[in-house]
Amino acid sequence: MKPYLSVIVKPTLFCNTDCKHCYHTPDQRESRTISISTVEKLMSMVASEYEAAWFIWHGGEPLTLPMSFYKQVIELEEKYFGKNSFRYGNTIQTNGLNLNRRLMAYCREKAINIGVSYEGPYNSVLREGDVQKSLDSLSSKDNKYSVSATISSGTVSHQKEIYEYFRDRGTNISFSPVIPAGCAACNGTVPDADEYIRHSIETFDEWLYDSESKVPLIPHYLYILNYLGEPTPSDCAHTSCLTKWLCVYPDGSLYPCGKACPEEYRMGNINDMASLDEAFSSEGFRNILLASVKRREKCAQCEISRFCNGGCSMDAYYETGTENNGGDSCRIFKALFGHISVEIQKILDEQPDMSKYNLFVRDAIVGKLVNPKNIAF
Ligand SMILES: C[S@@+](CC[C@H](N)C(=O)[O-])C[C@H]1O[C@@H](n2cnc3c(N)ncnc32)[C@H](O)[C@@H]1O
Ligand code: SF4
Ligand code: SF4
Repeated sequence: MKPYLSVIVKPTLFCNTDCKHCYHTPDQRESRTISISTVEKLMSMVASEYEAAWFIWHGGEPLTLPMSFYKQVIELEEKYFGKNSFRYGNTIQTNGLNLNRRLMAYCREKAINIGVSYEGPYNSVLREGDVQKSLDSLSSKDNKYSVSATISSGTVSHQKEIYEYFRDRGTNISFSPVIPAGCAACNGTVPDADEYIRHSIETFDEWLYDSESKVPLIPHYLYILNYLGEPTPSDCAHTSCLTKWLCVYPDGSLYPCGKACPEEYRMGNINDMASLDEAFSSEGFRNILLASVKRREKCAQCEISRFCNGGCSMDAYYETGTENNGGDSCRIFKALFGHISVEIQKILDEQPDMSKYNLFVRDAIVGKLVNPKNIAF
């Protein structure tokens, strides 16, 4: 059995709102939903071929499907992976509009993580609808979720403020920039890369010396772990995601990534397959793999290539073409990782009083100094 697979399932491309930047255009957001027989086929194949898997329910808007759908999903996971087997986990990635106490209580009972796409005080820059109302309706016991903030040209200078907003509420927060895909390809929502870098570094510096902060700043914290020699699979862009991630569309079509892949990267349909190996032997997978290898060959001279691994193939596809580096995502990673690695190396070299640093950095550094099996430089 292979060790681990991350599976993004888009149970529908339909959405109950219309974000300005969405990489799925309104004509793609059709009402079709995945059939339970396709979900069953997915669960039985993944459970028999992989030791463990994480399912990310995505879309479109996954919470336009009823709670009864997710109850069937969990029953199938328990059937194929084994109840309480710790071989599987779930995250629902939602715009938050349909969250309610009953659903949150069920998710808590079944240990389903909830990720809300939300920019706090600047949510209306990209999104419609009153998500604050549904979040406020959750009880204090049930309001456990993490937040993904997608940073646009309209919020690029507010990253520190957005971090502080969620830090003060004890909510885990991750940042990513709008990429020029789908609706964002030509409507001015992609942030300027230099401005993004400047404000992302400003946010990191605030978090680094925030000894009271109870939240990890993502992806910055993942970059620290990567620099210290512990790359995490959740930093998919910089840990060679190809073969370790799979995306399932409502009709059972398979793609290598959740970011609106083109037809040329389609890996067949799960309903026609006897094994997931067929998907990873498909022409579509070969196409993205060969183009990504060409890009990585160009990255060989880059001094941080062993930390970056050539970045995200779909970001490159939309920015420069999959075979080329040098787009905004490459520039942003170089600058951000460069800044973070200098700060962390300084701590490793000087071993200062760690009490002024935040808890996550303290733990990561102390762990490394106590067990220096893999000091990066
Ligand atoms: C496509 S949505 C699907 C799940 C759900 N509807 C939601 O909004 O969380 C998943 C994530 O992709 C992000 N996203 C959509 N279009 C994007 C783009 N062009 N660039 C970067 N992120 C994008 C959204 O902001 C959201 O956080
Ligand atoms: S980003 Fe999510 S919530 Fe917004 S339109 Fe796209 S699918 Fe819908
Ligand atoms: S930072 Fe850019 S050039 Fe360097 S490895 Fe990553 S994608 Fe390639």
